[in-house]
Amino acid sequence: MKPAERVATLRAELAHHNHRYYTLDAPEISDSAYDTLMRELQQLEAANPELITPDSPTQRVGGAVLEKFEKVTHRQQMLSLGNVFDDGEFTEFDDRIRKAMTAEQVEYVCEPKMDGLAIELVYEKGHFVGGSTRGDGVIGEDVTENLKTIRNLPIELSGNKIPKLLEVRGEVFIRKADFKRMNDTLLARGEEAFVNPRNSAAGSLRQLDSRVTASRPLSLYVYEVGSVDGREFQTHVEKLDAMASWGLPVNPRRYQVKGFDGVKGAWSNLLAERHALPYEIDGLVVKVDSTDFRTRLGQVSKSPRWAVAWKFPPEELETQVERILVQVGRTGAITPLAELTPVFVGGVTVSRATLHNEAELRRKDVREGDWVFVRRAGDVIPEIVKVITSKRTGAEKEFVFPTKCPICDAAVKKEEDGAIARCTNRACPAQLAGRLRHFATRTAMDIDGLGEKLCEAMVEKKLVGSVADLYELDLDTLTGLERMGEKSAQKLLEAITRSKDTTLRRFIYALGIPDVGEATAKALAEHFREVPALMNASLEELQRVKDIGPEMASSIRTYFDEPENRAVVDALRKEGVKPKPPEIVAAGAFSGKTVVITGTLAGMGRDEAKEAIERRGGKVSGSVSKKTDFLVAGEEAGSKLTKAKELGVRVLNEAEFLALLK
Ligand code: IVH
Repeated sequence: MKPAERVATLRAELAHHNHRYYTLDAPEISDSAYDTLMRELQQLEAANPELITPDSPTQRVGGAVLEKFEKVTHRQQMLSLGNVFDDGEFTEFDDRIRKAMTAEQVEYVCEPKMDGLAIELVYEKGHFVGGSTRGDGVIGEDVTENLKTIRNLPIELSGNKIPKLLEVRGEVFIRKADFKRMNDTLLARGEEAFVNPRNSAAGSLRQLDSRVTASRPLSLYVYEVGSVDGREFQTHVEKLDAMASWGLPVNPRRYQVKGFDGVKGAWSNLLAERHALPYEIDGLVVKVDSTDFRTRLGQVSKSPRWAVAWKFPPEELETQVERILVQVGRTGAITPLAELTPVFVGGVTVSRATLHNEAELRRKDVREGDWVFVRRAGDVIPEIVKVITSKRTGAEKEFVFPTKCPICDAAVKKEEDGAIARCTNRACPAQLAGRLRHFATRTAMDIDGLGEKLCEAMVEKKLVGSVADLYELDLDTLTGLERMGEKSAQKLLEAITRSKDTTLRRFIYALGIPDVGEATAKALAEHFREVPALMNASLEELQRVKDIGPEMASSIRTYFDEPENRAVVDALRKEGVKPKPPEIVAAGAFSGKTVVITGTLAGMGRDEAKEAIERRGGKVSGSVSKKTDFLVAGEEAGSKLTKAKELGVRVLNEAEFLALLK
């Protein structure tokens, strides 16, 4: 192939993958595969400079360094949005419009409210000529050079009937995954990490050196048209579709709805999906669809009467650190924890936040009495984003990290890399309670009803001194515990008895050997097949197990060299705990295959299905990609099913799945 042809192919491929990633949230290739294509293009262009064009994806590297940003007067004012916070306030908005338009029901288009910063882009004859920030709505700053570095901002529009002049408005933001990757890189280089995606997007776009902007993973979505020459739109949807048809990135997530009920439905739907979205949002933007209505409604001062933002509850809030304390985990690791004045954030009341370890506590410099921002995203444990140092009064107290275990007074030892401090006493009540809880976990011995509080109470009352003692418990002892009725005690005893019949991999995992997670436990079970063989395995033999390196081997060996640990394992076996070795099954349909399970299976639980696949040599993964061989789809399968169909992954219903298991 001639270089010119290959260059064209590569550019088309890169544009396609940009669209999949930035606009559709559905990448087809890995980051490194994308980088490989990009590198090939760069090399070809370096060897054939005559092939370089301004719109080549390689040209998004910045270069211009400015002294200051020029001011730009927007041809049309860039408006902002009024906010509503509840049903009542949105009803008022809707009522006003219905009255003014004498309409029974209004047609709305709802879009996610992107949490980034607003920008305007100007295209002349389909060519990107400049862009600016919103500023005060009338005058903004010229950030053209920086905008050009954004991977999914088209330099040339494509498609039909492109207006001579086109101004579009949209949002520049950073995706959650890109944000995380960027911060990891910064931290690895010893630089400071950003507080949140919004701040870093804003900071990145306002860099005088466009090469810095180019190094930041900015994304773009457009959602409005400003001035436009030679094109009229009857509706907002028409506008969005036209922009998309010209190659501009338009968020595919939108809701065309009618009246209050429709909007409320969209709002609830989006709120439920909020954490699963690849970018941060802070509400739903509700826009009147009809252009005619919009013109007639007009605007009040800086916001239109035809649109409003229905905000979500905030995820980042200010609160005060009342106290800093430490928790001791099952391996003795000592974790500092901040007790906060309770705040409602991200849908729950937060009264504690982890500070991870001493180094993190020092880095964030959190002190008792400090005002802080707390944030909760997804299922993540609440965390302190940063201290509001301007609110310090001088009365704040620095926390002194304990040199003795706060629970048992034993010495605290720092690990070699200094990150983790541990209580050195294995008999420490906090460690024991942690080991019990881990032992009972669903993916370990699966003892239903044995939660954290109960474990702590049993240790405190000295009912158990090791996990083996669980099997000696009786009804009388248990009902002696506070808030433990006869029924729950009975149920717990049954669950404990049931747990005796378990698998070797669960058993090994349940022991809580440092560094041994579920995957390692499985590999050990497959290799050794019985407990004594594992207990007596030499370092060399341990290292022969799949994925086990010298460190892990030594951690396992150290664990079994401890007489106390051997005694616990023996005691468990004497109590009748009988771990079954993994079944050996002939290679079948699932051997070496990657399987994703979604929806509800009528005949078996998720974990059971997972085990069945793994016993047959398959791997179960959480998300559908091109590498998925099968999707097992139960009742009410959702987005994973859609994705599997898109990618042409073979889908099995429950009956087909069972048939293949046989
Ligand atoms: S429309 C006149 N649509 O919210 C309407 N704005 O407070 C102008 N925003 O400055 C904006 N997502 O930065 C619109 N889908 C969306 C949006 C959106 C985020 C931001 C934008 C604007 C602010 C308004």
